[in-house]
Amino acid sequence: MDIISALEGLAPELEKGLEKASTAEDLESLRVRFLGRKGSLATIMGELPSLAPEKRPEAGKVANRVKEELTSLFEARKKALEEQAEQAFIAGFDPTLPGRHPWEGTRHPITLTMEKICSVFEKLGFDIESGPEVETDYYNFEALNLPPEHPARDMQDTLYITDNIVLRTQTSAVQVHTMEKRKPPLAVVSPGKVYRRDSDITHTPMFHQVEGLMVGDNVTLAHLRGVLTAFSQAMFGKETRVRFRPSFFPFTEPSAEVDISCCLCHGKGHVNGTPCRVCKTTGWLEILGCGMVDPAVFSCVGYPEDITGFAFGMGVERIAMLTYGLGDLRMFFENDARFLRQFV
Ligand code: DAH
Repeated sequence: MDIISALEGLAPELEKGLEKASTAEDLESLRVRFLGRKGSLATIMGELPSLAPEKRPEAGKVANRVKEELTSLFEARKKALEEQAEQAFIAGFDPTLPGRHPWEGTRHPITLTMEKICSVFEKLGFDIESGPEVETDYYNFEALNLPPEHPARDMQDTLYITDNIVLRTQTSAVQVHTMEKRKPPLAVVSPGKVYRRDSDITHTPMFHQVEGLMVGDNVTLAHLRGVLTAFSQAMFGKETRVRFRPSFFPFTEPSAEVDISCCLCHGKGHVNGTPCRVCKTTGWLEILGCGMVDPAVFSCVGYPEDITGFAFGMGVERIAMLTYGLGDLRMFFENDARFLRQFV
């Protein structure tokens, strides 16, 4: 067969091949077969020198035209296959399927608990006040009736920055700031971080407290009891019972610790005959400290002598463990997303 008819035969042959090609791989192997370095076109062109010299220019022209034809046949088929794939995708696409939802962050259980505590008190008419986490000895201790050698300072192993500046060990410090800038009557709660030199299974060096303070004419222990009972029932359920045990805090007199009836066994000490693991069979859970504000504190902030008030303070981690039924404090600080995303 002469070279020219061999060249002319390439395009029809390729067309047949392209009809059967349905994938990118099929196209590529055809391209190699026809246009590759050792493909049909190149092989035929290799025979050009064997032609009589006067016939070569024409054969060269035909070869160039055929090469262009082959290339455009490839392009056309490639485009057709791409359009087919797109049509198939559109046909198979169901716009009513739910989208893929990216995971959204959630608020930390401690934040949620702190917000819940504050919202209960806000409904009772309390305002939110905050104070600095880096405090002077005066606000954290002295104005709260803990003079320098007071033994109660040992209860709160303190992280000192200088002799006089500490990381606050209790949100009670906010009481003093609040009374310095506001006149009675007032009712405030102060949520925030506190710090102590403590780190074991049940203690972390940073934890959270919510402090409460109500001051006015004739604020009594009965008001304190009423407010804390309302709070406990809003937080742990209507059937929750509350008891006050006498205690000691330097900034309150008298002072008490407040227990609520156990939220797991409801005060029975047992659950289906087995000892209650939450209250250790006592039926009660301690949740906070409180008392009537000591006159020494009022005198530090220049309040009148006949003013009265109550204060209370609670650990947020403990309240969160009780409301969510958790046994291990450390879970709050490990930041395991599988744990955290369960709270909304
Ligand atoms: N500040 C105390 C603590 O960290 C808690 C506390 C007890 C706060 C009695 C009070 C209170 O306001 O009256 O352990």
